[in-house]
Order: sequence, then structure tokens, then C-alpha cells
Amino acid sequence: MTTETVEKPAARTARAQKVEEAVDSSGINRREFLFYIWGASMVMLMGGSAGMLLWYLLPRFRAGEFGGDFSLPGAQLPPLGSAPQDNPQGRFWFTHTENGIAALYKVCTHLGCLFKWVGTNDRFECPCHGSKFEANGLYIEGPAPRSLDRFEITVVMQDGSTVESDANGLVKLENPAQVREFIVHTGRRIQGLPAGQEYA
Ligand code: FES
Repeated sequence: MTTETVEKPAARTARAQKVEEAVDSSGINRREFLFYIWGASMVMLMGGSAGMLLWYLLPRFRAGEFGGDFSLPGAQLPPLGSAPQDNPQGRFWFTHTENGIAALYKVCTHLGCLFKWVGTNDRFECPCHGSKFEANGLYIEGPAPRSLDRFEITVVMQDGSTVESDANGLVKLENPAQVREFIVHTGRRIQGLPAGQEYA
């Protein structure tokens, strides 16, 4: 115990001496040496910050990859009231109902199972605990706490103008035949309304 407390300061002094000798032998004084150390630290810090900024600014998902944007040609819109269209890569159901056009996330809002479209019942049904949802994504019954989540959509019209989905992720168009492209943003998810709540 006693030996350690006596030797530690001595060891430190020896190390400091070695550093000073090294500094003297290289021809730079102590102040210059500290300046270079400080400069190197700053370069490393700025390099790290620039890397972080680049990581933040660069898109993390490519188009056509879940988490990125999916482009669907206007002609691909399901006719009003028809069965929703499955998009496995984008993990959404593309639907067209009286409430509008929506891209419904395929994961159940209860515990995350994949629900299915059941054409004979004209609704989505979850095989895990029996939650059911309308074609427009609204909750019908079961343990799910809310309606289906959906992704934001940008609609590009033939004349180049654009229409954005509303707060519920719905797009209402006067003339769907004039759509050039639907862009589904699978990185921007909107939570479904609480169970039992209707669209305004
Ligand atoms: S996970 Fe769908 S009802 Fe439970």
C-alpha cells in the first residue's frame, strides 16, 4: 500500500521527464508541442462532426426499398371500391374507397401480425387475435387499439402539379384518370385513428 502511494508520483514525474526529453530532442518547445496536440484534436473532432452530418443528410433508403419511396404509375390505381392491391416490397395495401386513396401499412396495430384481405367479407382480418378493419383502414372490431397505420402519399398529376395526402394519409382526387404517378413514402408513417373514431 505505502510503496504504491510513494511510487505513483515518482512514476508520473519520470514519464513527464521522458515527454520533455522527447520534445527537446525533436526541436520544438513545450508550447508548440501542446499547440500541435490541440490542433490534431480539433481536426479529429471536426472530421467526426462532418461524418455525422453526412450520415444525417444522405438518404438512408433507396427508392423501391422499404423505408424509401415507392413509385406507382397512375394506371395502377385500383378502381373505386375494388379489392385493395398488395404491394409486398413496400409492405402496404394500396386502397381506393369513398374516403380516398391510401397506402395501408401491412402490420396489425395490435401486436404486429400481418393481416390479410378477405374478399368474401370485404375487409381486412388479422389471423392472430381477430382484429378486423375496413378497406379504408378503419377499425371494425377486435383487440387492436386503433385503425390501420398508413404511409404519406404524393400524387403527381399529368400536368406536373402535385397533391399531398391529408393528415389521415388519404388522397381525394377529382379526376384520378389524370394521375401520372403515386409516390408512397414508406419512411413516413401516420398512425391510424383510435379504435371507433371515424374520418372527419
Ligand atoms: S396482432 Fe392482429 S389482432 Fe393481434
